[in-house]
Amino acid sequence: MSDLISQIAVNQIATKNELLEIIVNEQYDNELFAAADKVRQSIYGKEVYMRGLIEFTNYCKNDCFYCGIRHSNKNAERYRLTPKQIEQCAENGYGLGFRTFVLQGGEDPFYTDDVLCEIVKKLKAKYPDCAVTLSLGERSYDSFKALKDAGADRYLLRHETANKFHYEKLHPANMSFDNRIRCLYDLKSLVFQVGAGFMVGSPFQTTENLVDDLLFLKELDPHMVGIGPFIPHKDTPFANYIPFENNNEPADIANVDGNTNRSLRLTLVMVALTRLFLPNALIPATTALGTINETGRELGIRAGANVVMPNLSPLDTRNKYLLYDGKICTGDEAAECVQCMKRRMKSIGYNLVEKRGDYICG
Ligand code: 5AD
Ligand code: FES
Repeated sequence: MSDLISQIAVNQIATKNELLEIIVNEQYDNELFAAADKVRQSIYGKEVYMRGLIEFTNYCKNDCFYCGIRHSNKNAERYRLTPKQIEQCAENGYGLGFRTFVLQGGEDPFYTDDVLCEIVKKLKAKYPDCAVTLSLGERSYDSFKALKDAGADRYLLRHETANKFHYEKLHPANMSFDNRIRCLYDLKSLVFQVGAGFMVGSPFQTTENLVDDLLFLKELDPHMVGIGPFIPHKDTPFANYIPFENNNEPADIANVDGNTNRSLRLTLVMVALTRLFLPNALIPATTALGTINETGRELGIRAGANVVMPNLSPLDTRNKYLLYDGKICTGDEAAECVQCMKRRMKSIGYNLVEKRGDYICG
């Protein structure tokens, strides 16, 4: 193994220059992925955990420039699930072996703390052996605390980019980088298992930004990290943005066959480096990764990921929770997705397991 990769695997940290060297040079890829896989296997073995995603509202008060359910998108057909419908999704999921439910939605003020706490309490009472994960965007400390007290175990809030200037190019002026980071530290102080993360190839992103994302993650030390490729959505200001098109990156990356492959490769590199930096992290092979490449999720697992997040949302709302174009699995029953994922994991020598899959402390 090259000295550089083995040194990072041992030290769980690297300098900016070392990270840049790895990110721009494809020749490290195979060793990097193998090292990340080894680290993951030393902690989580060959187990892949599944999270049942319940996309319960696509209303959102925010207007992130990249996101298909942004407030200004008048073409999005909006929906909300009732507490009863959410429970039914969980019931279906429990029968399929899910032991984690992820309630995800846009920032929708319709769901007040009281409404959400009731939903969380119901799910925890009915399924005491399951983890409840929330992914509801930015909220106040008091709101996070109420949700934690109601029994929520985990919270996902991608930081999106660790660079304030880059953040401001992806979001309107009324959204604040500092508030997002505040939320992540509040969630940690409330003892949630916390998930951060970012997109790869988002507009205006530089290689240095990706390095900063890794160094930020090292500092935050989250339990979960979601990393997926940016994929344009047709009804957003970034509809025509082709990842990496205007980016004068070193020739080593540019010779990869097309921009999609570049997103794919770079996402896998970031997954693998995240695994080396945070050996115990729970890292999903994201649906976005599976969307840009038929076997993207399998490649993600082999590059150090250990979680998949099949969809438990009702079939008739599936095709309305569209953050980006071309999203896979919008027409499949949850049961089909589980079978499909079992098969996919088996094909690469991993096992999809019916466990909560909590963070293992290092
Ligand atoms: N492409 C890829 N990922 C996206 N997300 C939002 N919009 C897009 C897009 N166009 C990601 C964001 C968000 C997560 C739920 O989905 O990182 O935090
Ligand atoms: Fe949904 Fe394969 S995971 S159909």
